[in-house]
Amino acid sequence: MWRLSIFLLAASAAASPASIPSEPNGNLERRATPYSLPGNAQSDIARKEAIEVKRTQFTYANGIGGGPSSPGGLAGVALVAADSVIVNSELGAQVANETPDVIKASAAFPETAENFRTLDDYKKLYDDQWQNSLHPTGVYPGMLDNYTQDLTFSMERLSFNPYVIRRLIPKHDKLPFNVDDATICKITGGKNLRELLACGSLFYADHRNQKMLQPTVHYAAACDAYFYISPSSGRLLPLAIRTNVGRNLIYTPADKPSDWLLAKMMFNVNDFFHGQFHHLANTHYVTEVMYQAAIRTLSDDHPVLAILKRLMFGAFGVRPLALAILFRPNGTVDQFFGWRGSSAAVFAEKLYSSGYAGDVQNNYFLTNLRRRGLIDSRVGPPLKNFPFHEDALVIYNAIAKFMTAFVNSYYSSDGAVANDPELRAWIAEANGPARAINFPRRLKSRKELVLLLTHVAHLVSSSHHAVNTNQLITGAGSLPFNPSALYRPIPRRKGVKAEDLAKFLPPPAQCVKMLQSQANFARPLLAGTSRSLVHMFDDADLLSRLNEPTRRANQWFVAAMRARSAVVKARTFDARGLSQGMPFVWQALDPDVAPWSLTI
Ligand SMILES: *[C@@H]1O[C@H](CO)[C@@H](O)[C@H](O)[C@H]1NC(C)=O
Ligand SMILES: *[C@@H]1O[C@H](CO)[C@@H](O)[C@H](O)[C@H]1NC(C)=O
Repeated sequence: MWRLSIFLLAASAAASPASIPSEPNGNLERRATPYSLPGNAQSDIARKEAIEVKRTQFTYANGIGGGPSSPGGLAGVALVAADSVIVNSELGAQVANETPDVIKASAAFPETAENFRTLDDYKKLYDDQWQNSLHPTGVYPGMLDNYTQDLTFSMERLSFNPYVIRRLIPKHDKLPFNVDDATICKITGGKNLRELLACGSLFYADHRNQKMLQPTVHYAAACDAYFYISPSSGRLLPLAIRTNVGRNLIYTPADKPSDWLLAKMMFNVNDFFHGQFHHLANTHYVTEVMYQAAIRTLSDDHPVLAILKRLMFGAFGVRPLALAILFRPNGTVDQFFGWRGSSAAVFAEKLYSSGYAGDVQNNYFLTNLRRRGLIDSRVGPPLKNFPFHEDALVIYNAIAKFMTAFVNSYYSSDGAVANDPELRAWIAEANGPARAINFPRRLKSRKELVLLLTHVAHLVSSSHHAVNTNQLITGAGSLPFNPSALYRPIPRRKGVKAEDLAKFLPPPAQCVKMLQSQANFARPLLAGTSRSLVHMFDDADLLSRLNEPTRRANQWFVAAMRARSAVVKARTFDARGLSQGMPFVWQALDPDVAPWSLTI
């Protein structure tokens, strides 16, 4: 990592942002031209020719590190290189920022440091440590104190990796596994699994597909788990965890506390892995494919391409970095996870091509949550709290309002959208050579275009930063409760002693290396700057070429996001020690902290 740090610092010093060629074929004069739709026959000839030239220079190449295509051709390769400069310079800045953290933590926990004896000892890793990298939230308040509570475990599923859990639907779903009635009734206060399923109160999270992956020297199970809405409290709580490896033990809250805690940590190992490689497919792969199709079909003067270009700032620089750091042999995944880097790449590719992560329309924000019975469910009680939905919805609605103003200002009717030849070419290209999955077959209305653009903006912001970026070090990867692998084999029988639990976690010096790697993903330096989500559309060059209604929509968006930031920043525990119904304070989607693009 040290050699890498020096390389990145050099790269960031060499490349000042001003030298980044944002338009491979652009020049300064063109910048001043207002964006416009194709329309008048005269200029359209030149416009069409320019697109044709661009198509020869920007082609599809094999996905870097696996997955769907990456840009190819002269212009494509140039764009990947330019984006890499952006990504590496932001990483380089963070590496410099975290270096004092790493030096301090390495001194406190050298290779010779004695192993931690208890799980609570792992809190010492954060004692007066990692301040630069944890800025501005710190480890989420409550995360280190309330980790043994079942509500912490269940609410993690509804905040920092909300893409696994689903409601089981009566008459449609079967019980994935059985647990004896006596045990379940004791936990739920009288209802067995079939009764919970019948009343729409049973939820399921499935990581069995990790069983196919290549293990590292560390250990992971391939857990699936039941959750339920408690008839007495109305809260979502865990009910059972099955390991699916070795003796395939099934754990429940009725087990000894140390067994049950270990079971929850085993589930978290799988969930952390899933969160990281699902997000790669679900946000990076999906938006990259749509954007590549757009570059090849929309004129550089098209306002829709201008918006996409803004949202996809630096995006193509991420996969080369993922290949170099995460996936390579002995890379970050091999070192810290239970499954190998090569397997992680395959896992992401499968999640993408199966449509689970790769589908476009089925994964529109609300559609995705609805399909999993998490909102607007026709059966069962609603979720009392759903922090991801709550926080992302405010941002989503604001983005949709901006996009509505933008689209309506350029298109005076639904027919104008349907008949825009460049948009039609984009749709055909995305469904054709770009091989987008579940992309709209046509755009019949302004609303459909708004939904599509809003989705891209949602993926590069809320969807990404809820799971990645600052989340790893502040929450989703925090120890002792959220390990990325176990360092002891999965138990073959129950009865682990409380004093042995710490042996399943990494030794202190290994934790420091892992936290350093998590810190690499954090972007604390972007908080409060023009790179924060408040400024998603707030770029002078961009706005000067867009129209007045869009500029006004941006002003409104900035104000709305500032107001939202104040709400998230002020978040704290209520009288019951909860925040958004969780025993920890989650602030991932603070628009003044989360970036507006996916440059990591
Ligand atoms: C990976 O690390 C191991 C142990 O440090 C070493 O033996 C092996 O050669 C390394 N492999 C590669 C491809 O770097
Ligand atoms: C969670 O931890 C915080 C301290 O970090 C405490 O104030 C709060 O009461 C705890 N919540 C619950 C539900 O125990």
